[in-house]
Amino acid sequence: MRTVWPVYGRRAVAVIDQRMLPHRFETIELASAGRAADAIASMVVRGAPLIGVTAAFGLAMQADADAGDQALATAAGQLKSARPTAVNLAWAVDRALDHLMAIPAARRADAAWSFAIALADDDVATNEAIGRHGEGLLHAAAHQKSGGWLNVLTHCNAGWLATVDWGTALAPVYKAHAAGLKVHVWVDETRPRNQGAGLTTWELREAGVPHTVIADNAGGHLMQHGEVDLVIVGCDRVTAQGDVCNKIGTYLKALAANDNDVPFYVAMPWSTLDRRLVDGVREVPIETRSAREVTHLTGRDSNGKMVEVQLVPDGTQAANPAFDVTPARLVTALITERGIVPATADALAAMGPH
Ligand code: MRU
Repeated sequence: MRTVWPVYGRRAVAVIDQRMLPHRFETIELASAGRAADAIASMVVRGAPLIGVTAAFGLAMQADADAGDQALATAAGQLKSARPTAVNLAWAVDRALDHLMAIPAARRADAAWSFAIALADDDVATNEAIGRHGEGLLHAAAHQKSGGWLNVLTHCNAGWLATVDWGTALAPVYKAHAAGLKVHVWVDETRPRNQGAGLTTWELREAGVPHTVIADNAGGHLMQHGEVDLVIVGCDRVTAQGDVCNKIGTYLKALAANDNDVPFYVAMPWSTLDRRLVDGVREVPIETRSAREVTHLTGRDSNGKMVEVQLVPDGTQAANPAFDVTPARLVTALITERGIVPATADALAAMGPH
């Protein structure tokens, strides 16, 4: 299934409520731009490509309600400000808005739905292509290893739940697994929201891919002991010089990979490249999320009930930067829908426009 889909006849979309996974599988209907923006901000839907596509559907729902210039521009602003770091969000909304502003208001609603549906389909095709290119890397790594399991480490969730389908970082794993490669995934739990522990494990289990969840701090140790053949992560924004912004903790994995000669790959749909920025550490806006995500944990108790527990003494301050930037020099290569691209300014420039 897909992570977002139109509910025909009601001019709404349905999404999987990712806050409930892996404990409950629930879907939610979103029937306005405001609901779409709320779903993005509260992480009902998350993952860079998926929030972009959900926002494009949000704009379509706005066009149903009022397709005037002012109403569309206001809704676009609201959708874009739901989360600041993943550039796919603004990329999708700006493209949809430009497309709609160029046509008469009376025709905008249907055009907006067609646009969002095409964007969703493009995302699936993009990720399938990333999977194809990345699969080649996995087969090559397995060949070099000559036998045994290929161990891939990933951080956060960049699987199908983070996109419309396939995922980015996990697409090569799904393809290699389907082709019969013996591939095992080390899954970083990804504190504080635990997208690895809750979402990546759920996806891999559903797909029958062998995997092991690890504490975020375990990756370096495993690399030192030859237990990681390569790392593949997703990304939320990549700059013109190839700096990679992704979930907090990615940078530490890249440092450990570099120190241990473990290849560090980043799966990047072209929509995640932000050529306006150069120095990622200085320029990428990093989302700060609620301190409660650090001070508390949510999970399932022995009665199957979802509960939240407190980890720290009352009144403890917590900081929660949600993303970090990995400098290009630590990235072995970018796995894109157009092929494997070095994370350098020259290579990215040579690939041409979006
Ligand atoms: O905060 P999230 O869960 O939206 O963060 C997701 C990530 O960091 C992913 O790695 C990234 O969006 C790529 S998803 C294909």
